[in-house]
This record gives sequence, C-alpha cells and structure tokens, in this order.
Amino acid sequence: MADIEHARECLERIGLTAGSQLLEAKLEDAAKRELTYLDFLSDFLDVELQERKRRSEETRTKLSRLPHRKTLEEFDYDFQASIDKRQIMELSTLAFAARKENVIFLGPPGVGKTHLAVGLAVQALRNGKTVYYASLSQLIADLKKAHQQNRLDRRWRVYLRPDILVIDEVGYMQLDRHSAELLFRLICSRYEHGSIILTSNKVFSDWGELMSDTVIATAMLDRLLHHAHVINIRGESYRIRQRQKSGINTVPAANIPAIQ
Ligand SMILES: Nc1ncnc2c1ncn2[C@@H]1O[C@H](COP(=O)(O)OP(=O)(O)OP(=O)(O)O)[C@@H](O)[C@H]1O
Ligand SMILES: [Mg+2]
Repeated sequence: MADIEHARECLERIGLTAGSQLLEAKLEDAAKRELTYLDFLSDFLDVELQERKRRSEETRTKLSRLPHRKTLEEFDYDFQASIDKRQIMELSTLAFAARKENVIFLGPPGVGKTHLAVGLAVQALRNGKTVYYASLSQLIADLKKAHQQNRLDRRWRVYLRPDILVIDEVGYMQLDRHSAELLFRLICSRYEHGSIILTSNKVFSDWGELMSDTVIATAMLDRLLHHAHVINIRGESYRIRQRQKSGINTVPAANIPAIQ
C-alpha cells in the first residue's frame, strides 16, 4: 500500500488528479481483466484525458455566457422548411470557424435563429473552441460602461479573444452613433481573425437606419459579409405554433409582420 501512496503522490504532483483518484480502482480492474502493462497505461491515461476534456468544456461553457444549451440535435428541421439541413450540418463541422468565416441567421421572431446560433456554439464548445455570447444590447451596454470607466481596452479582449463571438438580436435595438462606432470597431477587429455568429430580424437594407449611419452600416456589412454564410429563414414562429398547439394562442400568426 505504501507504493500506492507514493504513486498517488507522484500523480498529484504532476497534475494527474483524476488518475490519482482512480488509481486503486484502475489497478484492481487491470488485475481482474489481466491487462498488459501497455493496456493498463493507455487505459489509465485515457481516463485523465477524458476528465481534462470534460473540465475544459465545463469551464469554456461557463465563460461563454450562453443563454441556454439548446443543441442542433434538438432542432426540428421539418418544421422550418426554408432551412437546408445539409448547410447546418456542414456548419456543424466547424470548418467555418477554422477559416474565420461568419454565420448570419436572418428571419422574423421565433423561427429558430438563437437556437441555431447556440446549437453551433455548443458544438464548438464540444470541440475545444472558445465562445462568447452576448445580445447586441448587452454588448453595447457593456462596452459603453467600460468606455466610461476608462477600461475599454481591457474589456475589448473579452470580445476579441474567443474563437467564436455570438452577437444575438441585432435589430431589436436602434443604435446611436457612438454605439454603431463601437460595433463597427468590433467587427473590424474580428474581420479575418475570428468568427462571428450573428442573428438579426432585419434585412441588410435596413441596417443603415438601424445604425443611424448608412456609411458605417455599409462598411460594417462589407466586412461582415466578405466571408459569410447567410441563412435566411422564412417561416412561421415556433413559439406561436407551440401556443396554438396548447390552445392559448393570443396573437393570430397573420398579424405578425413578415420579413422579406
Ligand atoms: N425548428 C425548431 N425546432 C425546435 N425548436 C425550435 C425550432 N424553432 C424554434 N424553436 C424553439 O422556439 C423558441 C424560439 O426560437 P428562437 O429563440 O431560436 O427564435 P429566434 O428566431 O431567435 O426569435 P427572436 O427573433 O424573437 O429572438 C426556442 O425555444 C427554440 O428552441
Ligand atoms: Mg433570438
């Protein structure tokens, strides 16, 4: 047993904590299954690597500030016929992130823009990537506050460092000039350096009005769309469908303005 204690201490010291905790059980298992030394070692190191991967994903998920953990597997493609499932599957390989390309989901409320953006983000987290999520209003409020407190440069890193930045709900809030300039600076800084997944209920032709400045909006879209996958969702709101199913529909679908 003294040998086990020594081995455990060594494992702790070199940071193999999961292995250290499971050493005894793994040794017993190896004896029972009559594993070779090599099989035991490989099995033992695998446990440590799996545990590290799990911890890393947990930490990156916490730091990502995702509003929920909806996955692409939970998405009902039959309901949203305008979405090409193959295109979403291709995006889920994350080749777009390796190429620093952007993904833009456009469409009216409730059609699954946030669900798909989060689903891709979850997939990225599973694959070892870093993600940060913010709605546009959160992002602008945060950057403005940092600007007022003279710590914008430090705060900036939160939005520049992650492999994927999700900017949700572009279009629900009209931006003043200063806010539009902050967003423009952010998009310029990530351009060809890191992916952005963006969702919007507004068509691009409305962005001039949205940003209170057509020159900024044009330059912003020029960068955003240079390497981008644009997914235009034209369909019914899933929320309304669920309300109709449960018999508590209050707003007739026909009264919801459509987006072109
Ligand atoms: N095709 C779908 N399959 C399964 N769930 C869906 C689908 N479309 C939407 N949902 C669900 O419906 C709800 C609304 O979807 P989501 O939040 O993605 O809409 P949105 O397009 O982002 O709307 P908004 O513009 O109002 O933010 C969520 O709970 C989402 O999980
Ligand atoms: Mg949304």
